[in-house]
Amino acid sequence: MTPVARRLGVLISGRGSNLQALVDAIADGRLNASIAVVISNVAGAGGLDRARSAGIETAVLDHRGWPSRDDYDRALVDELRARDVDVVCLAGFMRRIGARFIEAFPDAIVNIHPSLLPSFPGLHAQAQALAHGVRVSGVTVHLVTPELDAGPIIVQRPVPVLEDDTEETLAARILVEEHAAYPEAVQRLLDGEWIIDGRRFRKAE
Ligand code: GRF
Repeated sequence: MTPVARRLGVLISGRGSNLQALVDAIADGRLNASIAVVISNVAGAGGLDRARSAGIETAVLDHRGWPSRDDYDRALVDELRARDVDVVCLAGFMRRIGARFIEAFPDAIVNIHPSLLPSFPGLHAQAQALAHGVRVSGVTVHLVTPELDAGPIIVQRPVPVLEDDTEETLAARILVEEHAAYPEAVQRLLDGEWIIDGRRFRKAE
């Protein structure tokens, strides 16, 4: 594959620390891209302030304003297309996106998840890891497919689970790795020269 174009759309619902990691990586040259828009489904999301501080356009699309997931997805796609977005980064976006959205950006939607997938998909991944008693958890950045938290893996980083960890301390330690992993994965995607081989995201020969 040739390198894909470099306009990102970032979708958030909350504090936006992973958005900030992308902003910082662009600023210091680790990520060769620009963020065309940050969209939140929550009006008060802290990440919106981070985007505004970085001079990035923002939009709020409250999912409750649309009658169905399809309608909401269509509205999101319209907003992203209006800004010529090439790659969509889900960064703590707490809505599942549907087939209509995924088909609009083939192999160009990425998500960050705070566990080593396929372990502990879904909500509260850090609590799931603690409850299961694993000794190592971590972070996964993957392409988004219709199945939740199950698309081809671009980057993973392990994080040890310590004896006295709580959900909060483990989440904080994983978050440090998230902030390194997300820009790295997006840059890898933008670099092109990769293929999807079965489930594997790997270098093209
Ligand atoms: C992160 O833990 C991310 O992995 C998960 O949601 C959280 C978002 O945090 N998908 P932030 O809003 O980026 O700070």
